[in-house]
Amino acid sequence: MPTLIPATKKLALSHLTSVESLTDAQVLALIKQAQAFKCGQSWQADRTYYATNLFFENSTRTHRSFEMAEKKLGMQVIDFAVEHSSVNKGETLYDTVLTMDAIGVDIAVIRHSQVGYYEELIASNSIKCSIINGGDGSGQHPTQCLLDLMTIYEEFGHFDGLKIAIAGDLIHSRVAKSNMQMLKRLGAELYFCGPNIWYDEAEFNAYGQYVSIDSIIDQVDVMMLLRVQSERHDVKSMMSQDLYHNAYGLNIERANKMKPQAIIMHPAPVNRNVELADELVECPQSRIVTQMQNGVFMRMAILDAIVEGKKNNAISY
Ligand code: CP
Repeated sequence: MPTLIPATKKLALSHLTSVESLTDAQVLALIKQAQAFKCGQSWQADRTYYATNLFFENSTRTHRSFEMAEKKLGMQVIDFAVEHSSVNKGETLYDTVLTMDAIGVDIAVIRHSQVGYYEELIASNSIKCSIINGGDGSGQHPTQCLLDLMTIYEEFGHFDGLKIAIAGDLIHSRVAKSNMQMLKRLGAELYFCGPNIWYDEAEFNAYGQYVSIDSIIDQVDVMMLLRVQSERHDVKSMMSQDLYHNAYGLNIERANKMKPQAIIMHPAPVNRNVELADELVECPQSRIVTQMQNGVFMRMAILDAIVEGKKNNAISY
């Protein structure tokens, strides 16, 4: 179990769309509050809050852990399924959220394929509900980043000087983008690994070094693997899964070279025997299940901050 670190001051947010908008202190406050929820802290609302989860892209973890977090906090969850909604009659995202707001929804968690979809919603004078970004295309995945930070913090108690390799389909990964922004700011030393067709120097070089997985595997504190996102590839990769695994994946041979205290992370879903060997998914060094568990507590902490923002009319995103 994590150490209980009491949160000193309540964090208040209006929306959460990108980790870049959070200060380091706000990130640490969210981690501490998530740890408090993990240690069993209860939560009392001043009124009934209504949340809806608008997922326009597939999801298991983000969608269901938000639902779990909302229910653990006693919120009323308004069902929404794209296939049974007026989206099928051509309704836009804006009009869907406008409708949810009009019927009394306080918080909308949204996953959508359009990068930055939330900007129009937040700029609107009509929409008052809080927006939490559950992933925008290959843009940002702030709640995954925060649960990843919580998992790393639980393990090491700090970020400063940690050697963290992020490996795989970097260019399509919103997880990589959110994590590299925050981890570098918090003092981690970042390395990027994977096929060069999925590495963009202009986007990634400012955050870390592009190296081969074999040159860094024995030095890293955290080996963070990314899913190969075939659904986002314009040109289908000609590389077989075996070839990818042998050249870029975490196979058993590479895992045996890791430091004993180093951990393996993956946002999941995992392509077993592609990004990492099947046997490693639940091995002692893997924190993949912990990441999923922490997702509920971190999302409770985010919802708590949003509710606090509603009480205080917070303006930070
Ligand atoms: N890690 C993650 O975002 O998983 P889902 O796509 O299942 O939500």
